[in-house]
Order: sequence, then structure tokens, then C-alpha cells
Amino acid sequence: MFQPVKIAPSILSADFMNLERDIAMIEQAGAGYVHVDVMDGHFVPNLTIGVPHVKQLKHITSLPLDVHLMISNPLVQLPWFLEAGADMVTVHIEALEGQWADRAVEAIHEAGAQACVALKPNTPADVLSSTIGKLDMVLIMSVEPGFSGQGYIEGSEDKVAQVVSMAREAGNDGMLIEVDGGIGLKTVERVCAAGADVIVCGNAVYAAEDPAAALAEIEALGNKARLAALA
Ligand code: DX5
Ligand code: ZN
Repeated sequence: MFQPVKIAPSILSADFMNLERDIAMIEQAGAGYVHVDVMDGHFVPNLTIGVPHVKQLKHITSLPLDVHLMISNPLVQLPWFLEAGADMVTVHIEALEGQWADRAVEAIHEAGAQACVALKPNTPADVLSSTIGKLDMVLIMSVEPGFSGQGYIEGSEDKVAQVVSMAREAGNDGMLIEVDGGIGLKTVERVCAAGADVIVCGNAVYAAEDPAAALAEIEALGNKARLAALA
């Protein structure tokens, strides 16, 4: 059955001095989530925003907050982000050894939020084999995490297709796949054709002359590709 793609604009590319305006703009344009990139200067070289910002964001938008934790100690900070109102929380598998990914997923679910695990470009999809059945979403990075405005890593759509079949084999048909990094008009079709459900867009939306029009155009192309793949 056809399910429309959802666009999750990353506020990392928004104007932080006018964040309320920039979030209202994507809300009116039909965004599905607000993508919040949390970086700790350790797991990735860059440093961005954290728990207090998520708490404040919760007051200014009714869109679900899709919080992407690029941090080395997700189990320590997880309860704080959940308390702050994160709706979907993404932890990186590379930051969680052994059974800790399962612990993170449990903590997210206990708080009533949705759980997502992210894979860096060089992390193979099969590291998810024991966890995939419990996940609400998998995030596939199509750039090295850390910065917005990078180019899409060719072939990332192959990992999307692989995760689609892994979720199906695990009987987790409702699981979503999000793709993050370098997605815009030129790349959205190939990831949506491969099975991506949620598209993170930083620069492709916020650096566009008309962000609302860019969002609508990317969404339309993504939906066209999803429909064509179903046929
Ligand atoms: C990168 C972040 C992305 C990024 C997306 O580490 O996770 O969300 O800001 O920006 P674009 O779409 O410009 O690549
Ligand atoms: Zn992100």
C-alpha cells in the first residue's frame, strides 16, 4: 500500500536567530518532523545543541521532534532528551557496544517515544540483525555525520534496500527508514525508490530561495519514485 514520504527538515541549516519563524515555515509547508541534530564534539567533531533546546522546541511546534543523537554517551543523556519531549530518538549503533543498543531502545520505549538506530556510511546493515525487530525506524547516514551541506555518498540507496528486506524478514513491516545527508532534488528519487520513508533535508530546504517550495518539490519527487517502485 502506498504511504507518502515524510520530509524531516534539519534545523541545523535553519537560521538559529529566527528558529521559530523557520520552523513555522516548514510546518506550514507540510513537513512530517523537525529533525534535531545533536552533536557533542566527540562522537563527531562538531558541536550543536542539546537538551534545553529540545525542551524549548517542544513549546513552539506541534510537529514531532526527531532527535538525532550524534553523541558518545547516549545512555547517559537519553533520559534527559526523553524528559525534554523528544518524540523519536535516534542513537548511533557505533556509540553502543554489545547489548547497549537494546537497552537504549527499551529506555526510549519505556518513555513512550519511538526508537531509531542510526548507521554511519561504513557501518554494515547486518549489525542491526538482532535489534531490527524492535525498532520504529532505522536511520541510514548518506554522509559522514557531523556537518550539513555535504554531498550524498553514492550507493547509500543500496543499504536502504538491504534494510527494507531485513525488516521484512524480521516481520517488522511497520518500521520506517530515514535517510540523512545530501538529500535534495537530485538524490531523493533514488532513496525513495529503494524504500526510504523519511527524508532529512538540511541545505536542500533551508538554503533554497523558497524553502517551502523546495520542500514540496522534494516531497513530490519522493512520492513519485515510491509510487513507481510499487508498480
Ligand atoms: C549530518 C546531520 C544531517 C545534516 C543534513 O551529520 O545528521 O542531519 O545536517 O544536512 P544536509 O541535508 O544539508 O546534508
Ligand atoms: Zn541528522
